[in-house]
Amino acid sequence: MAGVNPYITPAEVDLPKKKYRVKFLPSGKVFEVDPARLPYGRNGLPGSILDIAHAAGIGLDHSCGGVCACSTCHVIVQEGLESCNELSDDEMEQLEEARGLTLESRLGCQCVPNGNCDVVIEVPGWNRNLVKEHD
Ligand code: FES
Repeated sequence: MAGVNPYITPAEVDLPKKKYRVKFLPSGKVFEVDPARLPYGRNGLPGSILDIAHAAGIGLDHSCGGVCACSTCHVIVQEGLESCNELSDDEMEQLEEARGLTLESRLGCQCVPNGNCDVVIEVPGWNRNLVKEHD
């Protein structure tokens, strides 16, 4: 993790025990998550959508470095939301600032799938960092 936010209660997460896939929209890129390699980087909770997006080469903004202190990592979990950790009060508070909020919205840095099913993630257009996106 890039840092720790001392003002929030750490999210309770259940890390995956087996491989699963994350599909990112609109690119359609599919990335296989290997639990043995988590975390992939230092941004967001280990195994979070932000962590996975960066490993997959998907440009997802994260102004606060992934510590639940902004809403720039807003994503929409189109499929597999039931396999993700519960939305905490702290995440909900930040998420309320996000543009285009839906019932399936999460902060990418706080949303950690447990690997029980594949997941489909939509990165809203305003959150895509096209400069960083690569294959
Ligand atoms: S990167 Fe700031 S809340 Fe996720």
